Amino acid sequence: APSDPDLVARARAAKAKLGEKVFVLGHHYQRDEVIEFADVTGDSFKLARDAAARPDAEYIVFCGVHFMAESADILTGDDQQVILPDLAAGCSMADMATAEQVAECWDVLTEAGVAEQVVPVSYMNSSADIKAFTGKHGGTICTSSNAKRALEWAFDQGEDRATTKVLFLPDQHLGRNTAVRDMGMSLDDCVVYNPHKPNGGLTAEELRAAKMILWRGHCSVHGRFSLDSVNDVRARIPGVNVLVHPECKHEVVAAADQVGSTEYIIKALEAAPAGSKWAIGTELNLVRRLANRFAPEGKEIVFLDKTVCFCSTMNRIDLPHLVWTLESLADGKVVNRIQVDEETEHFAKLALERMLALP
Ligand code: 13P
Ligand code: SF4
Repeated sequence: APSDPDLVARARAAKAKLGEKVFVLGHHYQRDEVIEFADVTGDSFKLARDAAARPDAEYIVFCGVHFMAESADILTGDDQQVILPDLAAGCSMADMATAEQVAECWDVLTEAGVAEQVVPVSYMNSSADIKAFTGKHGGTICTSSNAKRALEWAFDQGEDRATTKVLFLPDQHLGRNTAVRDMGMSLDDCVVYNPHKPNGGLTAEELRAAKMILWRGHCSVHGRFSLDSVNDVRARIPGVNVLVHPECKHEVVAAADQVGSTEYIIKALEAAPAGSKWAIGTELNLVRRLANRFAPEGKEIVFLDKTVCFCSTMNRIDLPHLVWTLESLADGKVVNRIQVDEETEHFAKLALERMLALP
């Protein structure tokens, strides 16, 4: 539905009043009505980098989810305030790894005698606590656009590449897909650590044999795509290119033609020839926007699954929340500030900076 013209006018007026003081970032999964007001859009890597690119902006309004706003707070100056227009915009995947669970996991690894060989690699989609754990234990953060480079870096950290292991948090699918597709490992090199089972549901023997210890987390949005959705779309649209996000299950990624982050997906469609057909396996706001954008160029873009699949927490940031945020700031009132405590920030920043320094 078209945006309420009154709200659009109010958002414009508040933003104009704030001028250079405010910098609005928008993740690609945001609604059209919100993206319209973003100064920059991007995948999670690009937004982490861009957040730090405007040190003069007093307010960083992050249209995305909680872990992204936390990362922006960690990477920006102390005098800059990061704001999340709706505090309930979390991420169910990030919630699947808590600080207590991860500390317990480290005890299990220590007990099994493997902790010394383990380098943690944590997906951006994790809380600041998990990032701090990662930094403290010599690990790095990664996003879907640099997971391969992060794993290469991690396996170079240990004394011996052959005995080094990676603890990958919290998305088992990105971890497995990167290990198998990009690093030449086999499915047998990966074990899954289940935080709800004693010892993660693994024996010391299994931990010793593994190269990749994958946390049992997943994205419920990308988890909806199945091998059947790939087969169905191939039957329905002959010649279709299947392009999916690496948060999809391994069997979906293995059956796809291309795999990449949201930014990668956009670039691939920009470069696609007229007349080409695409089925995209990622969040629906982005797929719809791309379908509309590229239709005039004769590129046919469909959603990979038949069911509707938004990320409900990304969708919490809507125009009314954005207007409220901008108008409050324009009135000198800071709302919904996201602030990571100093100690967490110190170690989380170490891990994030290792990511930003990846070749
Ligand atoms: P990217 O934008 O980095 O591809 O990640 C998408 C995502 O799932 C964010 O939650
Ligand atoms: Fe989290 Fe999945 Fe939503 Fe991304 S799409 S924010 S991983 S729930």
